[in-house]
Amino acid sequence: MDNHVADSGTGQIGRRALLCGAIALAVGLSTDIASAAVAAQGIKQRKDGKLDIDLSKNPALKKVGGAITIDLSDGSSVAVVRTAAGVKGLTVLNLSCTHNGVTVMQNGNQWLCPAHGSQFTLAGKVLQGPARTALLKYPSSATLKTLTIG
Ligand code: FES
Repeated sequence: MDNHVADSGTGQIGRRALLCGAIALAVGLSTDIASAAVAAQGIKQRKDGKLDIDLSKNPALKKVGGAITIDLSDGSSVAVVRTAAGVKGLTVLNLSCTHNGVTVMQNGNQWLCPAHGSQFTLAGKVLQGPARTALLKYPSSATLKTLTIG
């Protein structure tokens, strides 16, 4: 299964890739992926494969800099990050380091790769290599109550 195929031109992961991962969404969500990000709550998979996240059940996303994570059973992790206020202030990232695929961890206002030290902003831009490209983004949309990924 090709869950990590990305459109490098836009830096966004294709919907198909997310759907493949979402179908394999692990039931047990862990909190050990990131030191500061917390496991997402209130996740529902829609019939079309998209994920709806109940924002009222994820208070970490109320503050800019807050993040939640979703572990997929294919071993990859997704983060939802509050990068700005309002319904357009949520960013959804694949947490696989763009250098060599190791899962990055939240370290304050950055994502840090434990393998070779790459650092990314919470919105996924490279701060320090060896990674050269930003963390991949998933398409998403939000209302005041729900974030939809896919
Ligand atoms: S895999 Fe992340 S810096 Fe090498």
